[in-house]
Amino acid sequence: MHWLDLFYHPVWVLSTAVLALVVRMQRRGSWDPQSCSVRLKGKTAIVTGANTGIGKFIALDFARRGARVILACRSQARGSAALQEIREKSGNSDVHLRLVDVSSLDSVREFAEGILKEEEALHILVNNAAVSGLPRQITKDGFDASFATNHLGPFLLTNLLLDLMKRSAPARIVTVASVNHKKGEVDFSHFHGENLNYFMDNVYNHTKLHNIICTNQLAHRLQGTGVTANSVHPGIVMTEVLRHYPWSLRFIFNLIGFFFFKTPEEGAVSSIFCALAEEMEGITGKYCDSDCQLVLPAPLARDTALAVKDFEICERLTSKL
Ligand SMILES: NC(=O)c1ccc[n+]([C@@H]2O[C@H](COP(=O)([O-])OP(=O)(O)OC[C@H]3O[C@@H](n4cnc5c(N)ncnc54)[C@H](OP(=O)(O)O)[C@@H]3O)[C@@H](O)[C@H]2O)c1
Ligand SMILES: *[C@@H]1O[C@H](CO)[C@@H](O)[C@H](O)[C@H]1NC(C)=O
Repeated sequence: MHWLDLFYHPVWVLSTAVLALVVRMQRRGSWDPQSCSVRLKGKTAIVTGANTGIGKFIALDFARRGARVILACRSQARGSAALQEIREKSGNSDVHLRLVDVSSLDSVREFAEGILKEEEALHILVNNAAVSGLPRQITKDGFDASFATNHLGPFLLTNLLLDLMKRSAPARIVTVASVNHKKGEVDFSHFHGENLNYFMDNVYNHTKLHNIICTNQLAHRLQGTGVTANSVHPGIVMTEVLRHYPWSLRFIFNLIGFFFFKTPEEGAVSSIFCALAEEMEGITGKYCDSDCQLVLPAPLARDTALAVKDFEICERLTSKL
């Protein structure tokens, strides 16, 4: 036997497969929503981007716990399909679809107006909708489309619903951010699509950093109101998140992902944890990783002076004046 044959030995193949299997079994988070008995009867929750991916499983979990759930989606067709599926799987008919395109300030205002008119209370808001890998595109409000979708739209939506949430306290705001924020940078000209490099997930990384910065600042402003605001990393999750990337990249992602990444259902866990777990009661301004552990986000996300400035700029950009 040639010594090189050692590398092609079935033992290697077998041990690699076993190792992959073990890693796959180990990747579950430490908190299990199924063993959490919290009920949400009488509570109202909004989940943006609830028609697919992580958002759909967050909404399904809330529906199973008896909440009144509002799926905030941009497509009537995709939203209705999810609505039907969630109603069927949860047996809860108090699930509703409301249309919103979070990349448009007008659409966000219209959606919020409808909510304020129709809903008596709001206990949970999950800002989940986001895009990655969008090419350069400027919205009619004059913002880069990724920044509008991932940060400025959700920022405005949250602010418009704040009074209702304060009246409904205790209430919780959860922002689905990402570990990618660690590679993000802050440059306020980015909001308008200036000085951005659209290579891969570069822009996405910046938007996710702003998510955490502004969620922390919001938590600071909300102290004493009974409304908490936290951000989460869902893990690396096999969803449609790569829809704007080349198919070759998606192929590799899905291939590796089959063994190592989370399913959308597993990806929903850290958001569900922050939205309803008793462990998170009263906890605010924190960042939760995909294993439901509170960890420190990147230094830029903890810079208070920067956060004050960022929040004020976003308020100005999303105000009507
Ligand atoms: N997947 C991951 O590995 C990963 C990792 C870290 C963080 N995250 C975060 O997890 C969250 C959910 O992502 P996902 O992986 O579930 O992605 P996804 O499968 O692509 O789902 C994204 C959702 O957002 C909605 N959406 C996008 N743009 C919108 C807009 N302008 N207005 C309203 N809704 C809009 C989509 O609606 P349509 O179907 O109509 O487009 C869809 O429902 C995001 O915040 C993402 O950044 C994901
Ligand atoms: C975005 O963040 C991810 C995760 O931290 C990193 O792997 C990737 O290289 C970053 N993208 C760019 C273009 O910097």
